[in-house]
Amino acid sequence: MQSILLGRVLVLLWVSTAWADVLVQPDFDAKKFSGLWYVVAMASDCKVFLDKKDHLLMSTSTVAAEAGGNLSVHMAFPWGDGCNRVDAEFLKVGMEGHFRVPDMGYLDLRIANTDYSSFAVVYIYKELEGALSTMVQLYSRTQEASPQAVKAFQDFYPTVGLPDDMVAMLPKSDACSPGGAEAP
Ligand SMILES: *[C@@H]1O[C@H](CO)[C@@H](O)[C@H](O)[C@H]1NC(C)=O
Repeated sequence: MQSILLGRVLVLLWVSTAWADVLVQPDFDAKKFSGLWYVVAMASDCKVFLDKKDHLLMSTSTVAAEAGGNLSVHMAFPWGDGCNRVDAEFLKVGMEGHFRVPDMGYLDLRIANTDYSSFAVVYIYKELEGALSTMVQLYSRTQEASPQAVKAFQDFYPTVGLPDDMVAMLPKSDACSPGGAEAP
């Protein structure tokens, strides 16, 4: 018991060190960040992601700002001909734009860079089945990311140690559009 607790404390300490140098968008404004985003690219060292990355499709996140700084987020992930829908609560940790998402195993999520109107670079540190991984997502207001958005993503993921071969540009899919097929 004690060693399990100690292990947890050590992991938390290590994790806070690893997080220390990832910055959050200054003066993050949750209201301006609200609305529909397409998740158009991802980089991650998660083994599950790396195994699947050539089959992943563009997903969407619909963000609603709540009083107090939490975000309520509805995600839709196309898979095959179906669509998986997930509701998650981004819980504010300290400053605006810095969250954790227990529902998704995200120990830390930071909106690292956004102009609100076209793109956002999202940093995620997560745990899946005991394995820790780093992920970066590029959010775009349109299905075609602007060159400026792609550049912001490409400038960022190397700074958290992710190499080019851990990146997936996600193709469009109609599975989650209104009227698209739903998972049972
Ligand atoms: C965010 O949501 C959590 C869980 O619902 C709640 O405990 C917390 O007070 C909320 N944070 C703020 C700043 O409102």
